[in-house]
Amino acid sequence: MELIDLRSDTVTKPTPEMRRAMADAEVGDDVWGDDPTVNALEERSAELLGKEAALFVASGTMGNLVAQLAHLARGQETIAGRQSHIVLDEAAGHAVIVGTSVRALEDRPDGTLDLDAIRGAFRDPLDAHEPITGLVTIENTHAHSMGQPVSVAYTAEVAAIAHERGVPLHVDGSRIWNAVVALGVRPAELAGPADTLTFCLSKSLGCPVGSVVVGPKDVIWRARRARKMVGGGMRQAGILAAAGLVALRDGDAGMIDRIADDHANARLLAEALSGMAGIRAAGDIAQPGEGPLDPGRVRTNFVLFRVSGDRAAFLEAVRTRGVLLEWYPHDQVRAVTHHGITRADIERTIIAVRDALREAASPTGAPADAPVGAGVTQSA
Ligand SMILES: Cc1ncc(COP(=O)(O)O)c(C=O)c1O
Repeated sequence: MELIDLRSDTVTKPTPEMRRAMADAEVGDDVWGDDPTVNALEERSAELLGKEAALFVASGTMGNLVAQLAHLARGQETIAGRQSHIVLDEAAGHAVIVGTSVRALEDRPDGTLDLDAIRGAFRDPLDAHEPITGLVTIENTHAHSMGQPVSVAYTAEVAAIAHERGVPLHVDGSRIWNAVVALGVRPAELAGPADTLTFCLSKSLGCPVGSVVVGPKDVIWRARRARKMVGGGMRQAGILAAAGLVALRDGDAGMIDRIADDHANARLLAEALSGMAGIRAAGDIAQPGEGPLDPGRVRTNFVLFRVSGDRAAFLEAVRTRGVLLEWYPHDQVRAVTHHGITRADIERTIIAVRDALREAASPTGAPADAPVGAGVTQSA
């Protein structure tokens, strides 16, 4: 049985066209600036996002790290969402490598931080006790709020607050393409207010490896030095960048426009789950409160929910039916759609989840409508 892997959009496999482009890529030593394919990817990324320069890096984590290294001095502080990837999921790189602290603010269900809270989070540079605020970061799409896209207007407001105080704004735009598609805006419009932005090639764009940081020339030059320092100077990296160039093509030739299908698939899944007893609202900022899952919360490719019974047993029960879902913080289950997932896969997933819930609800462990003894066979 072929597995339907909804654990993350990082599980995507390169398309045949990407593989051909990778095999044929013209390469050189990128640490010396000699790789024409990396250079082309960087130029294309900068052009699409309306920035002066770009840097190809190994991962989203590395992109955020080198951006912080480019913006911050040791002992400074970053204002960020408490549940942002930079704060929660990057092995404390900000502290260990950048040498900075984080002023963590509450993330809200719409994926934003309160603007007054941001204003109030800046430190007093004249007080010798305090760190100096050196950076503001936001996440777009915002993962823990069920992948909410945050708007151009909000990004501009945050940037204005930061810039008024002489501080840059970095956007962790790992899934910025999902936001671009969901909001129906031009990428350069959404990135416009930010000083720097990291986006991932290896998520919704379906590439095997890599991320890109975009920004002003001088900041990207410092990020390039930082990338070397953390061991991210890759040599004939054009083999990887070639897939990125395919992904960033315009229209049907690329991978951006098709993301709308992932969003439609995520919504279809959520609509079906919302009608199932045993599936509950995700809680926390993904969907505050109790009650059924609200499909209206699904604006991009994330579906977060809770199950009424034992979560581990549920995940195992769907796995035995050929569907991989992922545990997520706050007792949640996560399903993420991507280019490896078709509408038919979602229809199969809906059946698998319904059967898994029935199995959990049945005292014999067998699906409620299964013949006697079926549960025994199933768990053997
Ligand atoms: C919001 C966000 N930022 C950054 C990253 C880091 O990307 P990578 O896994 O390529 O390091 C992720 C990865 O899942 C993410 O979800």
